[in-house]
Amino acid sequence: MSTAKPASTPVVELRGAVVELPGGHRALDRVDLEIRAGEIHALMGQNGAGKSTVVRALAGVWPLTAGTMCLDGAPVHVRSPKASRAAGIATVFQDAQLLPHLTVAENVMLGREPRGRWGIDWGATRRHAHELLTELGLEDLDVGQRLARLPVATRQLVAIARAMVDEPRVVLLDEPTAGLQQVDVDRLFAVLRRMRDKGVAIVFISHFLEQVFAISDRITVLRDGAKAGEIAVGDLDRVELISMMLGADLPTLQQLASQRAQHSEVVEGVPLLRAEGIGRANAVRPTDLALHGGEIVGLAGLRGSGRTELARLLTGHDRADQGRLFLSGAALRLRGPRQGMLHGLVLSSERRNDGGIIRGLSVRDNLILSLQALRGWNRPIPTKEREGIITWALRAFGLGEHVLRRPVDELSGGEQQKVALARLFVTRPRVLVLDEPTRGCDIPAKVDIQRLIATLAGEGGTILVISSELDELVRLADRIVVLKDRGKIGEISNGPGVSVDTLVELIAASD
Ligand SMILES: Nc1ncnc2c1ncn2[C@@H]1O[C@H](COP(=O)(O)OP(=O)(O)O)[C@@H](O)[C@H]1O
Ligand SMILES: [Mg+2]
Repeated sequence: MSTAKPASTPVVELRGAVVELPGGHRALDRVDLEIRAGEIHALMGQNGAGKSTVVRALAGVWPLTAGTMCLDGAPVHVRSPKASRAAGIATVFQDAQLLPHLTVAENVMLGREPRGRWGIDWGATRRHAHELLTELGLEDLDVGQRLARLPVATRQLVAIARAMVDEPRVVLLDEPTAGLQQVDVDRLFAVLRRMRDKGVAIVFISHFLEQVFAISDRITVLRDGAKAGEIAVGDLDRVELISMMLGADLPTLQQLASQRAQHSEVVEGVPLLRAEGIGRANAVRPTDLALHGGEIVGLAGLRGSGRTELARLLTGHDRADQGRLFLSGAALRLRGPRQGMLHGLVLSSERRNDGGIIRGLSVRDNLILSLQALRGWNRPIPTKEREGIITWALRAFGLGEHVLRRPVDELSGGEQQKVALARLFVTRPRVLVLDEPTRGCDIPAKVDIQRLIATLAGEGGTILVISSELDELVRLADRIVVLKDRGKIGEISNGPGVSVDTLVELIAASD
């Protein structure tokens, strides 16, 4: 890790950079960023924070709608990928721009092949490619090998070598380690360090916190499209960094004490749902998890840490490719969400429109639909039972009778979320997995939903809650499982000593 203080003018600089998408959404909001020669600069932030947008802006894919980009201190207009390349910026997009049926040498040199009298000089092409790979420490790659025969990780390295052909001054890498094994990550990092030591400025994005700490010299943290802070890795305070990613209101959150004071009773007996080493390539590392009847378990972690992915494995929305599930001690194999539902394992997705509610249909129809689907369409629910269910749902969720006939999309965000949850509650699930159940809700709706979750558990329901608002987990959960970098890193039973701080420290702690 280089600790030298940067003194030079940045190679590339953003000042007050704004990227406004069609529709007016600001994917980037007045961001300042300085990219220096010989530094690996990591962009961090939760999903949707704007990291890829920075890369797209620098790459000329999404030009700035306001603000300035400077090259060696002078303003430049980068309005196309071509202009970005002309400015000495190379972007490594995953795999996409490589041609699998060509050789390594051809891919590296594509469009830049040395020419002789008779056209492309293939000997020189291979030699050049080999030299370039050697400079990156990849001399063992066989330049005559067809790309299609090489593993993905090696192709990734070829893509980087290809980016180096034009001798760029800045190289942008958006999640180059996604899907790579540790040995491949090490190899990639060795290449990046070599490039850095040659004076190339590197912009690097990864979801894996530990990778960012290992490779980068400087970190810019983004949140909701804006810059939340910048840290030199030498002075890294992990807790501060995670707090920056999570949001500025953390100090307030930290004031909140656990409201569930008496919660550390030991859970015993056969868990209702137990996962043993369950995982899925590139999504969740093998994870153990047990949910006992009547328990509320929280799933904490940054967005992108694998929480949603784990929730999907537990409910049959994605197929696990390793590990096993047990329901009341009996092995269970889930082949799809419907099968999960038939076993009483139900997921409420973080995106309401993603199966949570059906737009255009009335609240009444939405409330009944899940239950009807579960029973089968040829077995109508008797009127009396149906009305009973609707009355219960309205009362439980504090929804007025007047909403029943209205299309659900006309309701407020909080009301829509209540309908989405009520739909699932009426099916009386054995295990309810709630992904961000209160996101986008106002405070009263949040409180209502939290109260309902607690009530459901009080009646014996078992609930797994994912929330980006750590105080919500501290308030609700009996136990909190912490995920980081797509795997479980810890588990704590909630109680008087547990606070938002405890969770932040767990996430920030080094492996
Ligand atoms: N193709 C797209 N169309 C519309 N909005 C997008 C698109 N890609 C990203 N966004 C929005 O832009 C914002 C920034 O996203 P992005 O830069 O991709 O985040 P990150 O890479 O940090 O996860 C988010 O609000 C996201 O929803
Ligand atoms: Mg991204």
